[in-house]
Amino acid sequence: MKVEKILITGALGQIGTELCGRLSALYGTNNIVGLGLEEESKAADIALGTYISMDVTDSVALQKVIEEHEITTVYHLASLLSGTSESNPPLAWHINVDPLIFFLERAKEKKIKKLFWPSSIAVFGGGIPKTNVGQEVPLNPTTVYGISKLAGEKWCEYYFNKYQVDVRSIRYPGLISWKAPAGGGTTDYAVDIFYKAIQEQRYTSFIKENTALPMLYMEDAISATLKLMEVSQDQISVRTSYNLGGMSFTPQELAAEIKKEISEFKIDYEPDFRQAIAESWPSSINDSVAKKDWGLQYDFDITAMTKDMLLNLKKKLR
Ligand code: SER
Repeated sequence: MKVEKILITGALGQIGTELCGRLSALYGTNNIVGLGLEEESKAADIALGTYISMDVTDSVALQKVIEEHEITTVYHLASLLSGTSESNPPLAWHINVDPLIFFLERAKEKKIKKLFWPSSIAVFGGGIPKTNVGQEVPLNPTTVYGISKLAGEKWCEYYFNKYQVDVRSIRYPGLISWKAPAGGGTTDYAVDIFYKAIQEQRYTSFIKENTALPMLYMEDAISATLKLMEVSQDQISVRTSYNLGGMSFTPQELAAEIKKEISEFKIDYEPDFRQAIAESWPSSINDSVAKKDWGLQYDFDITAMTKDMLLNLKKKLR
């Protein structure tokens, strides 16, 4: 059997850092190639056979990497998140859409056999209920990031329908993790809050106290991603992107959980431009299709996640 050679873009990002470790354990470190903008020295602690520092929009260099390393599977994670995308829409479109089309083209030629690409709850917008938002609803994103993710979903579906490209995708909610920092997202408050709780016992949230958003602990996000990539093609009915709900909470509720562990913790609120982004998104998601199709499940609720975050982040920051 030919061994899978896996390429991960955004390898040193919030998801990539952890996905590299899990993929290395499954497929062997030597079969994992990571790609990122960061310089090589930053990849020293990441479980990778090869790390290549390059711009993911450089399609000539990307083509060389695929050929030289005989890549068969791609996790294309590199992306500008919601906050950052608002400050440079053309760049967000370029980074979030063009390399995806490049990979879909390579998959059409069957050089790449399987492609994973992350979408987001940012594809949702107005005209739908706020809670328990289902898989098939009208998508009216109001953010640059959401527009790029919706377009990406449609590109994935197009290449599947027309060329049977095996592309699989998840609409991630806000992702919470301690190994690598988040960056530029609206849901990042739910990561920042843990750093500040440990370092200063207080946090000023840029999201209002009562704004609920769907969130997911990274352990569960990685497990779901690997599960989706492992199931057989006939278990996949959605080729745009699967809803993932995870948990749903407000900054106030998260602060209350943290207070159970750090009693002196205090929170206040100074909402900025990201509040409007948060308000345009659902507060909870229905992920029954992913549960039915490929057995999505979670291990962490808000209490278990908070405990695990504090335990690991305290060790890391020590
Ligand atoms: N976590 C992302 C963001 O806030 C949403 O997918 O930008």
